[in-house]
Amino acid sequence: MPLIRLDKFISERTEFSRSQIKQLAAKGQVTLNGCAVKKSDTKIDPDSDSVSVAGREITAQRFRYILLNKPEGYVCSTNSNDGPSVLELIPPELRTKGLFPAGRLDKDSLGALLVTDDGELAHRMLSPKSHIPKIYIVKLDRPFQNKYIDIFKNGIILADGETCLPAKVRMAENSDKLAFVELIEGKYHQVKRMFAAVGNHVEVLMRISLGGLVLPETLGFGDCIELLHKDVENLFKQQDFEVFCDGFSPVFSAILTNKQL
Ligand code: URA
Repeated sequence: MPLIRLDKFISERTEFSRSQIKQLAAKGQVTLNGCAVKKSDTKIDPDSDSVSVAGREITAQRFRYILLNKPEGYVCSTNSNDGPSVLELIPPELRTKGLFPAGRLDKDSLGALLVTDDGELAHRMLSPKSHIPKIYIVKLDRPFQNKYIDIFKNGIILADGETCLPAKVRMAENSDKLAFVELIEGKYHQVKRMFAAVGNHVEVLMRISLGGLVLPETLGFGDCIELLHKDVENLFKQQDFEVFCDGFSPVFSAILTNKQL
């Protein structure tokens, strides 16, 4: 790749303007291959140089992919009066102009949310035909009942008569009020409505995987990590629900069990 100016490289991949980058560089917050670089017009090779702003590496890839651990109280929308947007949680050095949440979690839901500026990938992911399995862990108001397994498997009918595609559900090992659910579609408030249809109530809901992309347990609520394009392709990989639940970290179950409501 031809050499380009450092400030151009950063401004095209973040929300920082060239003048902000100049100031950050002057403060020693911009590094090139690990060394602070004071001159923002320095020429770099995007293919081989490593550039960081405020300690975070700026990748040369065309689109940005961010996995956010959504906390409650934020909405998955770019313009909404319903509350603060999840986009406010993205640190400035990761923000680009076209970022949007690829998919929805309710305002009170937690967990894995992909934020990207890659419209084509989001379209592939969100298309009703994609059937990407999404796994949630839920805290229920009443104990789990084994009959849910077959009811969900056979395509549960919701209170308004809408029928869901077959879904998987099972109780978590450490509590009869915690359950895992896997859906291959995304209707409005679907998990909550499914449990309501069997006479239960979801108190807390957290998404823990999107296809083969698993929320790292080290990622706190409100924190995010940048993914490489090759990692994002894991979205389209399958994983076995039972194996996933068997190996599931008790960290998240503990978070849900202890969550104050
Ligand atoms: N199902 C729900 O009910 N809420 C979510 O946020 C996601 C799935």
